[in-house]
Amino acid sequence: MTDPSSTATATAESPRDDRTYSPGLEGVVAGETALAKVDGERGRLTYRGYRIGDLVERGTYSAVAHLLWTGDWDPGQRLPTAAVPGPVMATLRALPSDAKPMDALRTAVSAWGATQTLDWPPTVDQARALTAFSPSALAAFARIRQGLEPVDPDPTLDLVEGFLYQLTGSRPEPGTVRALDAYFIVGAEHGFNASTFTARVITSTRSDMASAVAGAIGTMKGPLHGGAPSEVVDQLAKVGSVEKAEQWLTGVLDRHERLMGFGHRVYRAYDPRAAALRKVAEAMDHKPDWLELAIQVEDVALRLLAERHPDRAIKTNVEYYAAPVLQGVGLTPDLFPAAFSLARHAGWSAHVLEQAATNRLIRPDVIYVGPPERDLPG
Ligand code: ACO
Repeated sequence: MTDPSSTATATAESPRDDRTYSPGLEGVVAGETALAKVDGERGRLTYRGYRIGDLVERGTYSAVAHLLWTGDWDPGQRLPTAAVPGPVMATLRALPSDAKPMDALRTAVSAWGATQTLDWPPTVDQARALTAFSPSALAAFARIRQGLEPVDPDPTLDLVEGFLYQLTGSRPEPGTVRALDAYFIVGAEHGFNASTFTARVITSTRSDMASAVAGAIGTMKGPLHGGAPSEVVDQLAKVGSVEKAEQWLTGVLDRHERLMGFGHRVYRAYDPRAAALRKVAEAMDHKPDWLELAIQVEDVALRLLAERHPDRAIKTNVEYYAAPVLQGVGLTPDLFPAAFSLARHAGWSAHVLEQAATNRLIRPDVIYVGPPERDLPG
Protein backbone atom coordinates (compact mmCIF):
# COMPACT_ATOMS: atom_id res chain seq x y z
CA MET A 1 0.00 0.00 0.00
CA THR A 2 1.17 3.46 -0.78
CA ASP A 3 1.30 5.93 2.06
CA PRO A 4 -1.81 7.99 1.31
CA SER A 5 -0.11 11.20 2.33
CA SER A 6 2.86 10.63 0.05
CA THR A 7 3.23 12.17 -3.37
CA ALA A 8 4.38 10.51 -6.58
CA THR A 9 8.04 9.73 -7.22
CA ALA A 10 9.83 11.93 -9.73
CA THR A 11 10.57 10.19 -13.03
CA ALA A 12 12.61 11.02 -16.10
CA GLU A 13 9.35 11.55 -18.00
CA SER A 14 7.32 13.53 -15.54
CA PRO A 15 8.14 15.99 -12.78
CA ARG A 16 7.30 15.01 -9.22
CA ASP A 17 3.60 15.62 -8.49
CA ASP A 18 3.68 17.25 -5.10
CA ARG A 19 0.04 18.22 -4.83
CA THR A 20 -1.43 16.93 -1.58
CA TYR A 21 -4.73 15.19 -1.14
CA SER A 22 -6.95 14.29 1.78
CA PRO A 23 -7.74 10.56 2.07
CA GLY A 24 -11.50 10.12 2.19
CA LEU A 25 -11.77 13.79 1.12
CA GLU A 26 -11.85 14.55 4.85
CA GLY A 27 -12.04 18.30 5.34
CA VAL A 28 -12.35 18.97 1.60
CA VAL A 29 -15.10 21.41 0.70
CA ALA A 30 -16.74 19.86 -2.37
CA GLY A 31 -19.76 22.08 -2.89
CA GLU A 32 -22.32 24.48 -1.48
CA THR A 33 -25.77 23.63 -0.19
CA ALA A 34 -28.78 25.50 1.15
CA LEU A 35 -30.44 22.29 2.41
CA ALA A 36 -28.96 21.15 5.75
CA LYS A 37 -26.45 22.66 8.15
CA VAL A 38 -24.65 20.07 10.26
CA ASP A 39 -22.92 21.83 13.16
CA GLY A 40 -20.82 19.07 14.67
CA GLU A 41 -19.21 21.20 17.37
CA ARG A 42 -22.47 22.45 18.83
CA GLY A 43 -24.55 19.35 18.01
CA ARG A 44 -27.06 21.22 15.90
CA LEU A 45 -28.83 20.25 12.69
CA THR A 46 -31.13 22.48 10.65
CA TYR A 47 -33.00 21.92 7.39
CA ARG A 48 -33.20 25.21 5.46
CA GLY A 49 -32.54 26.93 8.77
CA TYR A 50 -35.26 25.19 10.77
CA ARG A 51 -34.14 23.20 13.84
CA ILE A 52 -34.50 19.43 13.55
CA GLY A 53 -36.19 19.18 16.97
CA ASP A 54 -38.87 21.69 15.92
CA LEU A 55 -39.46 19.90 12.63
CA VAL A 56 -39.93 16.59 14.47
CA GLU A 57 -42.36 18.15 16.95
CA ARG A 58 -44.41 20.19 14.48
CA GLY A 59 -43.86 18.70 11.03
CA THR A 60 -44.48 15.59 8.99
CA TYR A 61 -42.11 13.84 6.61
CA SER A 62 -44.17 15.02 3.63
CA ALA A 63 -43.93 18.64 4.77
CA VAL A 64 -40.18 18.27 5.42
CA ALA A 65 -39.63 16.72 1.98
CA HIS A 66 -41.52 19.63 0.40
CA LEU A 67 -39.40 22.05 2.42
CA LEU A 68 -36.20 20.43 1.18
CA TRP A 69 -37.35 20.37 -2.45
CA THR A 70 -38.83 23.88 -2.64
CA GLY A 71 -37.65 25.90 0.38
CA ASP A 72 -41.29 26.48 1.41
CA TRP A 73 -42.66 25.42 4.79
CA ASP A 74 -46.23 24.15 4.42
CA PRO A 75 -47.22 21.78 7.24
CA GLY A 76 -50.33 20.74 5.27
CA GLN A 77 -48.32 19.06 2.50
CA ARG A 78 -49.25 15.42 1.87
CA LEU A 79 -47.53 12.76 -0.20
CA PRO A 80 -49.42 9.45 -0.49
CA THR A 81 -47.42 6.43 -1.61
CA ALA A 82 -47.58 5.59 -5.32
CA ALA A 83 -48.35 2.34 -7.17
CA VAL A 84 -45.53 0.02 -8.22
CA PRO A 85 -45.51 -0.22 -12.05
CA GLY A 86 -46.12 -3.72 -13.44
CA PRO A 87 -42.57 -4.31 -14.76
CA VAL A 88 -41.11 -3.27 -11.39
CA MET A 89 -43.44 -5.64 -9.53
CA ALA A 90 -42.42 -8.44 -11.90
CA THR A 91 -38.78 -7.63 -11.14
CA LEU A 92 -39.41 -7.77 -7.37
CA ARG A 93 -41.21 -11.09 -7.73
CA ALA A 94 -38.21 -12.46 -9.67
CA LEU A 95 -35.76 -11.72 -6.84
CA PRO A 96 -34.74 -14.54 -4.47
CA SER A 97 -36.76 -14.40 -1.26
CA ASP A 98 -33.55 -14.13 0.75
CA ALA A 99 -32.34 -11.07 -1.21
CA LYS A 100 -31.32 -8.23 1.08
CA PRO A 101 -33.97 -5.48 1.31
CA MET A 102 -31.33 -2.90 0.27
CA ASP A 103 -30.63 -4.90 -2.90
CA ALA A 104 -34.36 -5.13 -3.60
CA LEU A 105 -34.86 -1.39 -3.08
CA ARG A 106 -31.88 -0.45 -5.27
CA THR A 107 -33.14 -2.81 -7.99
CA ALA A 108 -36.69 -1.44 -7.73
CA VAL A 109 -35.52 2.17 -8.13
CA SER A 110 -33.44 1.19 -11.13
CA ALA A 111 -36.35 -0.69 -12.74
CA TRP A 112 -38.70 2.21 -11.93
CA GLY A 113 -36.35 4.54 -13.82
CA ALA A 114 -36.71 2.33 -16.88
CA THR A 115 -40.50 2.81 -16.78
CA GLN A 116 -40.38 6.62 -16.54
CA THR A 117 -39.51 9.56 -18.75
CA LEU A 118 -37.05 11.43 -16.57
CA ASP A 119 -35.95 14.35 -18.71
CA TRP A 120 -33.18 16.78 -17.80
CA PRO A 121 -33.31 18.92 -15.77
CA PRO A 122 -34.75 16.94 -12.85
CA THR A 123 -37.93 18.38 -11.33
CA VAL A 124 -39.77 18.51 -8.02
CA ASP A 125 -42.45 16.32 -9.64
CA GLN A 126 -39.82 13.65 -10.35
CA ALA A 127 -38.62 13.89 -6.74
CA ARG A 128 -42.18 13.51 -5.44
CA ALA A 129 -42.88 10.56 -7.76
CA LEU A 130 -39.75 8.65 -6.76
CA THR A 131 -40.11 9.38 -3.03
CA ALA A 132 -43.74 8.17 -3.20
CA PHE A 133 -42.86 5.04 -5.19
CA SER A 134 -40.06 3.57 -3.07
CA PRO A 135 -42.05 2.84 0.14
CA SER A 136 -44.54 0.85 -1.94
CA ALA A 137 -41.72 -1.10 -3.57
CA LEU A 138 -40.03 -1.96 -0.26
CA ALA A 139 -43.36 -2.94 1.32
CA ALA A 140 -44.17 -5.11 -1.71
CA PHE A 141 -40.82 -6.90 -1.51
CA ALA A 142 -41.18 -7.42 2.25
CA ARG A 143 -44.52 -9.17 1.63
CA ILE A 144 -43.50 -11.13 -1.48
CA ARG A 145 -40.56 -12.69 0.38
CA GLN A 146 -43.01 -13.95 3.02
CA GLY A 147 -45.30 -15.45 0.38
CA LEU A 148 -47.87 -12.64 0.83
CA GLU A 149 -49.49 -10.53 -1.89
CA PRO A 150 -48.47 -6.84 -2.10
CA VAL A 151 -51.02 -4.30 -0.86
CA ASP A 152 -52.10 -1.45 -3.16
CA PRO A 153 -51.46 2.12 -1.98
CA ASP A 154 -54.30 3.89 -0.19
CA PRO A 155 -54.34 7.44 -1.60
CA THR A 156 -56.07 8.74 1.54
CA LEU A 157 -53.00 7.95 3.67
CA ASP A 158 -49.89 10.12 3.92
CA LEU A 159 -46.54 8.54 3.04
CA VAL A 160 -45.41 6.97 6.32
CA GLU A 161 -48.86 5.68 7.27
CA GLY A 162 -49.30 4.34 3.73
CA PHE A 163 -45.96 2.53 3.92
CA LEU A 164 -46.87 0.82 7.21
CA TYR A 165 -50.29 -0.10 5.81
CA GLN A 166 -48.75 -1.64 2.69
CA LEU A 167 -46.17 -3.46 4.81
CA THR A 168 -48.59 -5.02 7.29
CA GLY A 169 -51.91 -5.03 5.43
CA SER A 170 -53.65 -3.21 8.27
CA ARG A 171 -54.04 0.39 9.41
CA PRO A 172 -51.28 1.31 11.88
CA GLU A 173 -52.03 3.06 15.18
CA PRO A 174 -51.53 6.85 15.15
CA GLY A 175 -48.70 6.64 17.72
CA THR A 176 -46.86 4.16 15.52
CA VAL A 177 -47.24 6.43 12.48
CA ARG A 178 -46.05 9.43 14.47
CA ALA A 179 -42.93 7.59 15.68
CA LEU A 180 -41.88 6.36 12.24
CA ASP A 181 -42.68 9.75 10.73
CA ALA A 182 -40.31 11.35 13.26
CA TYR A 183 -37.61 8.85 12.29
CA PHE A 184 -38.15 9.68 8.60
CA ILE A 185 -37.79 13.41 9.40
CA VAL A 186 -34.45 12.99 11.19
CA GLY A 187 -33.21 10.66 8.44
CA ALA A 188 -34.28 12.92 5.57
CA GLU A 189 -31.10 14.91 5.04
CA HIS A 190 -27.55 15.26 6.42
CA GLY A 191 -25.22 17.28 4.21
CA PHE A 192 -22.49 15.84 2.01
CA ASN A 193 -22.45 12.28 3.33
CA ALA A 194 -21.21 9.53 1.00
CA SER A 195 -24.56 8.56 -0.55
CA THR A 196 -25.62 12.16 -1.11
CA PHE A 197 -22.27 12.91 -2.71
CA THR A 198 -22.80 9.89 -4.96
CA ALA A 199 -26.19 11.24 -6.04
CA ARG A 200 -24.61 14.60 -6.82
CA VAL A 201 -21.77 13.07 -8.85
CA ILE A 202 -24.26 11.05 -10.92
CA THR A 203 -26.46 14.12 -11.43
CA SER A 204 -23.46 16.20 -12.48
CA THR A 205 -23.14 14.05 -15.61
CA ARG A 206 -26.75 15.03 -16.48
CA SER A 207 -27.89 11.50 -15.72
CA ASP A 208 -31.42 11.11 -14.31
CA MET A 209 -32.94 11.14 -10.83
CA ALA A 210 -33.54 7.35 -10.68
CA SER A 211 -29.89 6.66 -11.55
CA ALA A 212 -28.73 9.13 -8.88
CA VAL A 213 -30.93 7.58 -6.17
CA ALA A 214 -30.13 3.97 -7.19
CA GLY A 215 -26.43 4.86 -6.87
CA ALA A 216 -27.06 6.52 -3.52
CA ILE A 217 -28.81 3.39 -2.20
CA GLY A 218 -25.80 1.32 -3.30
CA THR A 219 -23.56 3.67 -1.35
CA MET A 220 -25.73 3.62 1.74
CA LYS A 221 -25.71 -0.18 1.72
CA GLY A 222 -22.10 -0.19 2.93
CA PRO A 223 -21.78 -0.84 6.67
CA LEU A 224 -19.62 2.25 7.15
CA HIS A 225 -22.48 4.45 6.02
CA GLY A 226 -25.93 2.89 6.31
CA GLY A 227 -25.01 2.00 9.82
CA ALA A 228 -26.65 -0.78 11.69
CA PRO A 229 -29.07 0.12 14.45
CA SER A 230 -29.73 -3.63 14.46
CA GLU A 231 -26.27 -3.97 16.01
CA VAL A 232 -27.45 -1.75 18.85
CA VAL A 233 -30.21 -4.29 19.46
CA ASP A 234 -27.67 -7.14 19.50
CA GLN A 235 -25.38 -5.18 21.81
CA LEU A 236 -28.12 -4.57 24.37
CA ALA A 237 -29.18 -8.21 24.22
CA LYS A 238 -25.59 -9.16 25.08
CA VAL A 239 -25.40 -6.62 27.93
CA GLY A 240 -28.54 -8.23 29.36
CA SER A 241 -28.96 -6.08 32.49
CA VAL A 242 -27.76 -2.76 33.84
CA GLU A 243 -25.77 -4.58 36.56
CA LYS A 244 -23.67 -6.27 33.88
CA ALA A 245 -23.28 -3.13 31.73
CA GLU A 246 -20.03 -1.79 33.16
CA GLN A 247 -18.24 -5.13 32.90
CA TRP A 248 -19.53 -5.91 29.38
CA LEU A 249 -18.82 -2.46 27.96
CA THR A 250 -15.36 -2.41 29.57
CA GLY A 251 -14.63 -5.73 27.86
CA VAL A 252 -15.59 -4.27 24.46
CA LEU A 253 -13.34 -1.24 24.97
CA ASP A 254 -10.45 -3.37 26.30
CA ARG A 255 -10.62 -5.40 23.07
CA HIS A 256 -10.52 -2.11 21.09
CA GLU A 257 -13.93 -2.85 19.60
CA ARG A 258 -16.62 -0.22 18.99
CA LEU A 259 -19.69 0.49 21.06
CA MET A 260 -22.49 0.66 18.54
CA GLY A 261 -24.52 3.84 18.51
CA PHE A 262 -21.67 6.04 19.78
CA GLY A 263 -19.23 8.31 17.95
CA HIS A 264 -19.54 10.28 14.72
CA ARG A 265 -17.17 11.75 12.13
CA VAL A 266 -18.73 15.21 12.39
CA TYR A 267 -20.54 15.48 15.74
CA ARG A 268 -18.37 16.23 18.77
CA ALA A 269 -21.50 17.02 20.77
CA TYR A 270 -24.60 14.90 21.39
CA ASP A 271 -26.18 14.09 18.00
CA PRO A 272 -29.36 16.21 17.89
CA ARG A 273 -31.08 13.42 15.94
CA ALA A 274 -30.42 11.01 18.82
CA ALA A 275 -31.91 13.52 21.26
CA ALA A 276 -35.04 13.89 19.12
CA LEU A 277 -35.45 10.13 18.66
CA ARG A 278 -34.94 9.41 22.36
CA LYS A 279 -37.98 11.60 23.10
CA VAL A 280 -39.94 9.79 20.40
CA ALA A 281 -38.92 6.36 21.71
CA GLU A 282 -39.90 7.25 25.28
CA ALA A 283 -43.33 8.46 24.12
CA MET A 284 -44.11 5.34 22.06
CA ASP A 285 -47.12 3.18 22.92
CA HIS A 286 -45.28 -0.03 22.02
CA LYS A 287 -41.71 0.64 23.07
CA PRO A 288 -39.36 -2.32 23.14
CA ASP A 289 -38.97 -3.74 26.64
CA TRP A 290 -35.23 -3.00 26.46
CA LEU A 291 -35.62 0.79 26.06
CA GLU A 292 -35.14 1.42 29.79
CA LEU A 293 -32.01 -0.73 29.71
CA ALA A 294 -30.77 1.25 26.68
CA ILE A 295 -31.15 4.54 28.57
CA GLN A 296 -29.23 3.20 31.59
CA VAL A 297 -26.53 1.58 29.44
CA GLU A 298 -26.09 4.87 27.55
CA ASP A 299 -25.03 6.62 30.78
CA VAL A 300 -22.46 3.94 31.55
CA ALA A 301 -21.15 3.94 27.96
CA LEU A 302 -20.77 7.74 27.86
CA ARG A 303 -18.87 7.70 31.16
CA LEU A 304 -16.50 4.92 30.01
CA LEU A 305 -15.90 6.57 26.60
CA ALA A 306 -15.13 9.90 28.30
CA GLU A 307 -12.63 8.17 30.64
CA ARG A 308 -10.89 6.41 27.73
CA HIS A 309 -10.92 9.36 25.33
CA PRO A 310 -10.62 12.52 27.43
CA ASP A 311 -9.44 14.48 24.37
CA ARG A 312 -12.10 13.27 21.90
CA ALA A 313 -15.79 13.69 22.63
CA ILE A 314 -17.54 10.44 21.71
CA LYS A 315 -21.26 10.86 22.22
CA THR A 316 -24.46 9.01 21.41
CA ASN A 317 -25.28 8.99 17.69
CA VAL A 318 -28.57 8.71 15.79
CA GLU A 319 -28.34 4.93 15.45
CA TYR A 320 -28.67 4.35 19.19
CA TYR A 321 -32.22 5.66 19.47
CA ALA A 322 -33.20 4.75 15.89
CA ALA A 323 -33.06 1.13 17.05
CA PRO A 324 -35.91 1.27 19.62
CA VAL A 325 -38.04 3.45 17.33
CA LEU A 326 -37.71 1.11 14.34
CA GLN A 327 -38.20 -2.00 16.45
CA GLY A 328 -41.10 -0.36 18.29
CA VAL A 329 -43.00 0.33 15.06
CA GLY A 330 -42.65 -3.33 14.13
CA LEU A 331 -39.87 -3.34 11.53
CA THR A 332 -37.58 -6.34 11.49
CA PRO A 333 -33.88 -5.44 11.90
CA ASP A 334 -33.04 -6.39 8.30
CA LEU A 335 -35.40 -3.64 7.13
CA PHE A 336 -33.67 -0.92 9.19
CA PRO A 337 -31.12 0.18 6.51
CA ALA A 338 -33.81 0.20 3.81
CA ALA A 339 -36.09 2.29 6.03
CA PHE A 340 -33.19 4.74 6.46
CA SER A 341 -32.89 4.85 2.64
CA LEU A 342 -36.60 5.59 2.24
CA ALA A 343 -36.24 8.49 4.65
CA ARG A 344 -33.15 9.81 2.83
CA HIS A 345 -35.01 9.93 -0.52
CA ALA A 346 -36.13 13.49 0.31
CA GLY A 347 -32.55 14.67 0.86
CA TRP A 348 -31.03 12.77 -2.05
CA SER A 349 -33.60 14.09 -4.50
CA ALA A 350 -33.30 17.63 -3.08
CA HIS A 351 -29.54 17.44 -3.69
CA VAL A 352 -30.21 16.22 -7.24
CA LEU A 353 -32.32 19.35 -7.83
CA GLU A 354 -29.71 21.59 -6.17
CA GLN A 355 -26.85 20.07 -8.17
CA ALA A 356 -28.74 20.39 -11.45
CA ALA A 357 -29.59 24.03 -10.78
CA THR A 358 -25.94 25.12 -10.88
CA ASN A 359 -24.46 22.08 -12.52
CA ARG A 360 -20.81 21.58 -13.21
CA LEU A 361 -19.48 18.08 -13.96
CA ILE A 362 -17.84 16.70 -10.79
CA ARG A 363 -14.51 15.37 -11.94
CA PRO A 364 -11.70 15.62 -9.39
CA ASP A 365 -8.04 15.04 -10.04
CA VAL A 366 -5.90 12.14 -8.88
CA ILE A 367 -2.18 11.74 -8.24
CA TYR A 368 -0.64 8.96 -10.31
CA VAL A 369 1.57 6.69 -8.17
CA GLY A 370 2.12 3.80 -10.65
CA PRO A 371 5.21 2.90 -12.70
CA PRO A 372 6.74 5.52 -15.00
CA GLU A 373 6.07 5.33 -18.72
CA ARG A 374 7.88 2.25 -20.12
CA ASP A 375 8.08 -0.18 -23.05
CA LEU A 376 6.02 -3.38 -23.11
CA PRO A 377 8.27 -6.39 -22.42
CA GLY A 378 9.28 -8.64 -25.34
N1 ACO B 1 -16.66 2.87 20.56
C1 ACO B 1 -15.42 2.81 21.03
N2 ACO B 1 -14.43 3.62 20.62
C2 ACO B 1 -14.72 4.53 19.68
C3 ACO B 1 -16.00 4.64 19.14
C4 ACO B 1 -17.01 3.77 19.62
N3 ACO B 1 -18.25 3.81 19.15
N4 ACO B 1 -16.00 5.62 18.22
C5 ACO B 1 -14.76 6.11 18.17
N5 ACO B 1 -13.97 5.44 19.05
C6 ACO B 1 -12.56 5.65 19.30
C7 ACO B 1 -11.71 4.86 18.34
O1 ACO B 1 -11.44 3.57 18.83
C8 ACO B 1 -10.49 5.71 18.22
O2 ACO B 1 -9.65 5.47 19.36
P1 ACO B 1 -8.06 5.47 19.23
O3 ACO B 1 -7.71 6.85 18.78
O4 ACO B 1 -7.62 5.12 20.61
O5 ACO B 1 -7.73 4.43 18.19
C9 ACO B 1 -11.01 7.12 18.35
O6 ACO B 1 -12.26 7.02 19.04
C10 ACO B 1 -11.28 7.78 16.99
O7 ACO B 1 -11.97 6.86 16.15
P2 ACO B 1 -12.28 7.16 14.61
O8 ACO B 1 -12.82 5.91 13.96
O9 ACO B 1 -11.10 7.79 13.95
O10 ACO B 1 -13.37 8.25 14.76
P3 ACO B 1 -14.46 8.71 13.74
O11 ACO B 1 -15.03 9.93 14.32
O12 ACO B 1 -13.95 8.78 12.35
O13 ACO B 1 -15.51 7.49 13.81
C11 ACO B 1 -17.48 6.24 13.62
C12 ACO B 1 -16.83 7.64 13.52
C13 ACO B 1 -17.02 5.37 12.46
C14 ACO B 1 -19.00 6.43 13.51
C15 ACO B 1 -17.12 5.59 14.97
O14 ACO B 1 -17.45 6.46 16.03
C16 ACO B 1 -17.76 4.22 15.15
O15 ACO B 1 -17.24 3.22 14.64
N6 ACO B 1 -18.93 4.15 15.91
C17 ACO B 1 -19.59 2.88 16.13
C18 ACO B 1 -20.51 2.52 14.94
C19 ACO B 1 -21.73 3.42 14.85
O16 ACO B 1 -22.42 3.71 15.80
N7 ACO B 1 -21.99 3.86 13.59
C20 ACO B 1 -23.10 4.76 13.27
C21 ACO B 1 -22.61 6.16 13.01
S1 ACO B 1 -23.92 7.31 12.72
C22 ACO B 1 -24.31 7.13 11.09
O17 ACO B 1 -23.56 6.63 10.31
C23 ACO B 1 -25.66 7.58 10.58
